Amino acid sequence: MIRALLFAVFLFIQLQVKMAGKLVIIVTGANKGIGFEVVRKLAKEANNSFLAKELGTQGATIYLTARDEARGQAAYNKLANLSNDSTDIQYATLDVSSPDSVRKFKDLISSKHEQVHALINNAGVSPAVAGDGGSWDSKTIEWVLSVNYYGVREMTNAFLPMMHDQGRIVNLSSGLAKLSALRDRRLKERFQKASKVSQVDELMQEFKDGVRDGTYGSKGWPRLSYTVSKVGLVGLTRAFAAEQSITHPKLLVNYVEPGWVTTDMGGGWASDGDAKDGAVSPSFAAVGDLKGKSGIGISKDSKETSW
Ligand SMILES: NC(=O)c1ccc[n+]([C@@H]2O[C@H](COP(=O)([O-])OP(=O)(O)OC[C@H]3O[C@@H](n4cnc5c(N)ncnc54)[C@H](OP(=O)(O)O)[C@@H]3O)[C@@H](O)[C@H]2O)c1
Repeated sequence: MIRALLFAVFLFIQLQVKMAGKLVIIVTGANKGIGFEVVRKLAKEANNSFLAKELGTQGATIYLTARDEARGQAAYNKLANLSNDSTDIQYATLDVSSPDSVRKFKDLISSKHEQVHALINNAGVSPAVAGDGGSWDSKTIEWVLSVNYYGVREMTNAFLPMMHDQGRIVNLSSGLAKLSALRDRRLKERFQKASKVSQVDELMQEFKDGVRDGTYGSKGWPRLSYTVSKVGLVGLTRAFAAEQSITHPKLLVNYVEPGWVTTDMGGGWASDGDAKDGAVSPSFAAVGDLKGKSGIGISKDSKETSW
């Protein structure tokens, strides 16, 4: 009798493990820099992470994605040897600024997996190396926003229906994107109070309109496209978190400030280490113990940080 009971318990546990399956993790813009190092780090650590234990998963499938197939495949080849019995790295092409590419990628993932456990929106562009500057015109601003803001919005909207209830969405912001970057009190307040994605969309549209007709300065926007794109991204993160808190209270949507690190974007003078150091906080936000917090900022030291 006791033997039969123990056997039944054993079978039940096996079934649970099988049902929980592998963690499915997506990293955008991962052919180089921080995203590449996040894939490397998670390939080594995701399987034994807090999230894996919380969800009872066994192993991980990590999608290294890139907008350019040749660059993506080359990056994948460098990490392919990290795949083993429990963890595998897959490559897929994904341009986050192209709705068509996002849709194709979503179709690919949904044909292979029922759920996604962590989406790391890392892909980003800056019009000038190491911060702001560069061209200031509508075309440039559209491009920066199409990746740093709208790309994250498209990816999040595409994958929200597939996210595990206790999954994670991690957005790569910047220490430059503090609210203090906006001098205008009313703009600050509107960003701070925005609890719907549509409200943040409205703000970003006003910024674009202001650049187009030259009124951005008088309306309180700084002449800093990268910074504004990332302020928008923080607003977007908080708004998604607020919206999801009603229907999916355990889905954690957060942003990270990875530090100023030496990558093609960060430049050679960065003072917070290299891309491996930059990968620490996004990886923590994706699979570490966040104490159930959503809608927060996480610093390069993986501590909660204010906006
Ligand atoms: N480095 C820093 O000090 C720092 C500081 C704060 C925040 N961040 C943020 O961290 C993230 C990663 O930055 P990084 O320093 O690693 O920069 P990076 O080395 O320049 O890498 C950026 C990545 O994004 C990709 N990308 C650009 N446009 C894309 C698109 N439309 N679709 C898909 N991928 C696209 C790039 O692909 P290609 O190679 O094809 O261009 C590249 O893989 C960015 O969001 C950045 O804003 C970086």
